[in-house]
Amino acid sequence: MLIFWSQFSKLNAKIGKITKKMATIRFIREDLEVQCNPGENLRELVMKENLQLYGLKGILGNCGGAGQCSTCFISVEGGTKNSLSPTTSVEEEKLKNRPENWRLACQTLIKSSAVILTKPQSPPSNLQELKKISENKKLPR
Ligand code: FES
Repeated sequence: MLIFWSQFSKLNAKIGKITKKMATIRFIREDLEVQCNPGENLRELVMKENLQLYGLKGILGNCGGAGQCSTCFISVEGGTKNSLSPTTSVEEEKLKNRPENWRLACQTLIKSSAVILTKPQSPPSNLQELKKISENKKLPR
């Protein structure tokens, strides 16, 4: 019984460490925070949460995450420099004339907590207000 309890305690500690390493992605347009595992693809997370990633062009036709259609834009509005995976060569090509904080969701892996705006090509009219509200809320690491 004692051996079982010892093993259970070790397993519980490991689960605790894993749980602590979860990332939080805050979607400011949707006023939603989602917990996810580091390494998760941002496009897949958005789709899993049934959030609207695509504008009209992307709704009518997108590449399904292959990095070819340039319709899965997001902008990074908060987090650390290393919250997301580095920009891929596909993004460097496809985002040449876009703001520096834009990414292609399908090319982006989550490393730690971040603040994201979906569809930055058509920002909400109250974007500045949403950003201020987000800045005042601490982002879990
Ligand atoms: S879904 Fe086509 S580039 Fe991301």
